[in-house]
Amino acid sequence: MKSRKSAKTGADKIEVDGLTEKQAKAEHARLEVEIKQHDERYYQKDAPTVSDADYDALRRRYVAIEERFPDLCTLESLSVRVGAAPARGFAKVRHAVAMLSLDNAFSDEDVADFVGRIRRFLNLKEAEPIVFTAEPKIDGLSMSLRYEGGQLVKGVTRGDGSEGEDVTANVRTLKDIPHQLKGSGLPEICEVRGEVYMTKPDFIALNERQKAAEEPVFANPRNSAAGSLRQKDSSVTASRPLHFFAYGWGQMSKMPAETQSGMLKWFASAGFITNPLTKICRSVEDLVEFHRGIELRRAKLDYDIDGVVYKVDRLDWQGRLGFVSRSPRWAIAHKFAAEKAITVLRDIEIQVGRTGALTPVAKLEPVTVGGVVVQNATLHNEDYIKGVGKDGALIRNGVDIRIGDTVIIQRAGDVIPQVVDVVLDKRPKDAMPYHFPKKCPCHLKTDVVREEIAGGEEGARARCSGEFACPYQKIEHLKHFVSRRAFDIDGLGEKQIELFFENEWIVEPAEIFTLEERNKKIKLEEQGGFGDTSVHNLFSSIRARRDIGLDRFIYSLGIRHIGETTALALARGYGTWKAFHDACLKLAANDAETRQEMDALDQIGDTVIDSLAAYFREKHNLGIVERLTKRVRVLDAEKPAESPVAGKTVVFTGSLEQMTRDEAKAMAERLGAKVAGAVSKKTDYVVAGPGAGSKLAEAKKHGVAVLSEDEWFKLVGKGK
Ligand code: IVH
Repeated sequence: MKSRKSAKTGADKIEVDGLTEKQAKAEHARLEVEIKQHDERYYQKDAPTVSDADYDALRRRYVAIEERFPDLCTLESLSVRVGAAPARGFAKVRHAVAMLSLDNAFSDEDVADFVGRIRRFLNLKEAEPIVFTAEPKIDGLSMSLRYEGGQLVKGVTRGDGSEGEDVTANVRTLKDIPHQLKGSGLPEICEVRGEVYMTKPDFIALNERQKAAEEPVFANPRNSAAGSLRQKDSSVTASRPLHFFAYGWGQMSKMPAETQSGMLKWFASAGFITNPLTKICRSVEDLVEFHRGIELRRAKLDYDIDGVVYKVDRLDWQGRLGFVSRSPRWAIAHKFAAEKAITVLRDIEIQVGRTGALTPVAKLEPVTVGGVVVQNATLHNEDYIKGVGKDGALIRNGVDIRIGDTVIIQRAGDVIPQVVDVVLDKRPKDAMPYHFPKKCPCHLKTDVVREEIAGGEEGARARCSGEFACPYQKIEHLKHFVSRRAFDIDGLGEKQIELFFENEWIVEPAEIFTLEERNKKIKLEEQGGFGDTSVHNLFSSIRARRDIGLDRFIYSLGIRHIGETTALALARGYGTWKAFHDACLKLAANDAETRQEMDALDQIGDTVIDSLAAYFREKHNLGIVERLTKRVRVLDAEKPAESPVAGKTVVFTGSLEQMTRDEAKAMAERLGAKVAGAVSKKTDYVVAGPGAGSKLAEAKKHGVAVLSEDEWFKLVGKGK
C-alpha cells in the first residue's frame, strides 16, 4: 500500500510539542481532511491507500494536537466521532414517497398538547376516543424496502428524506428482511419502512473483533449499524449481525389494512418482525404510562432506543391530519429525559453567532455523557449565568454560575449539551461572580446590546452591534452557508472556513464559487493545510453544488428566523427564486399586498416577514445575494403533485361543515394551492359554508368563483 502524497506547510515535520497555536490549527485542519479521505476510502470505497499503521499515526497526531490545544476539540472533532463516515459511493434513489421525520415531545404536557391538537384539527368531541399505537423509537437507521409483485427489488436509506442511497445488495443479507413477501393478494407495489439496528451485545462483540484486528471501532450501535450497511462489499455486511423492525410504509398500490395496528399485523404476516412492545393506548394517561414503562425497561432492552413513538391508529384520520412541513400531525416521538453528568467549569468563553448573538460557552473538564465526550456546553445567556431572569424571576433558585464551579451538565439527543445546575457545596472559596463582557470580543470591540427574548427562553440575549463589520458574524454566516443542511460542501467545514476567512480567501459566499479561478494566485496546495488531492476534491465538491434547490438556498442565506421549515414553506409558496426575490424586495419597500400574500402561507407570520423585509432592505445583503446568484443556479421548488388547484389562491369562509378550517387549509396547501385570508382580484376560488358574509360579497365584486364545500371536494377529487 502506498502512502498518499500531499504538499504540506512544513508544520507536519514539527513535533506536536513544538507547534505554535497557529501551526497547530492549520495542521489539525489538514489532518482532519486527510483522515476523512482515508475513512472514506476505507469505509465507502473499501480501498484504503495507507497502511493501518500509517493511518493510526495520523489519528494519534490529531489527538495529540487536541490534547495540547483542547479548544480544537469540538463536538465535530474526529476524535469525538469515532467509526464510520457517511457513504458517498452508492447510487442515489428518489423516494416515491418522502421519508419524513417526527416532531418531538419532551414532557407529559407536550403529549397532552399533541392529543389536543389532533382533537381540534379533526373537530372531535371530548367523548370521542382516539386510539393510538405506542412503540419504542429505535435508535438505528431508517430503511425503505420496495417490493414489486412480492419480490424485494430495492433497499434505500433515508438520505435527506427525498433521496437516499441504494443499498439493495446489502439489505438482502439481513435475515429479518424477506426477499419474497408471504401471503396472497399482495399489493403489486409495496414499500415497507422500518429501522435497521444492531443489538448492544452484537455491537460490543463487533468492536472487540475490530480491536483485535486493529480496525477502527464504532462509537455506538447506531454507527456500527450504519457503517455495516454502507459497505461496498456486501459480504462484509453479511458478516455483521444486523436486524430490522418494520413500522411504516411508503408507496402502496393497495392498503392491506385500515389502521396502523392492522398494518403492523400485516407486516408480521408478510414475514417481517415488528416490535413486540407495541401497545394500543386510548388516552394521554395511557401514552404517558407507556413512556414510563418503556423508560424503566430501557437499560435491559438489548437494542438502543431514544424514546417512544405515538401514532394515530386510524389511517383515514392519519390521511386527514397530514403533515406540517417535514413531520406528520398524526405521530410524535416522546423522548426520554436527558442524560446528566458532573464536571468542573474551567472557563467561560463568549461565542458570537451568525446573527451577532453572544453566547457564553462553558469550557469543561472533559466528561462522558451518553457515550459522547463533552468539553463544551452552552450557558445560554448572561441572566442564565447570574441565576436571575426577566422581572427578577429566579433560575436555579437564584444560584449563579462561577468559573471553578462543579456543574451538572445534560445532553439530550442531538441537542447541544447544557449546564443545568451547580453543586454549591463544591464551590471553591475564591470563585468570583462572572462578569458578562460589555464589548464584543471581535476586534471592533463594539458595544453589546441586550435584547429581550420573546417566548419560553429565559433571560435576555446579548448582541454585538457590529453587524456586517463584525468578523465573527461573517465567519458564522459562512459556516452556516456551507453546513450540511445548507450548501453541504464536502471538504469545506468549520475549520476550513476559519482558515480561509483568516487568510481572506473567502469572506462572502459568492467567493466560494470563485475560489477555483482565484487559486491560480492563491495556490492552496502550496499554502499548507491542503494536499493536491484534497484541493482537487474540494473544487469538485464546490462545482457539484452550483445547482441548489430553492428551499436550501433560502435557508443557506442565514436570515434570522428562517430555519429549514420556514425556508421550505417559502420555497413552496413562491416556486422560483425570482418570484421569492421580487416578493422580498416589495416587502422591503413596505408593500402591503405582498405582506398579506406571504402571511397567508402556512407557518409564515410577522416575525418571518419582518425579518425578510429587514434583510432585503440592507444594501450589503442585496450585494451578497446578487453576487451569489451570479455564481449558482437556484432550482425551482418541486411542484406539488398534479392537482386542479395547484398554484391557485383559495379563500375559505363561513362555517365549514365537513372539515375544520385548519384541515381545509392544510388540504388545499397539500394540493399546491395558496390559502389567503382575504378576497382580492388574485383569488381563484372562495369556498363558502353557511353564514359567509362580506367575503362572499367581495368574491362577487371581483368575479371570483364561489364553491360550496361539496363542490370543493368534487373539484379536488376527494368526492364526498
Ligand atoms: S415512524 C413520518 N416509528 O425516527 C416518519 N420512526 O424522527 C414516521 N424511528 O427517521 C417515522 N423508530 O428512523 C417511526 N417506531 C418508529 C421509529 C421511528 C425509530 C426513527 C426513524 C425516523 C425517525 C424520525
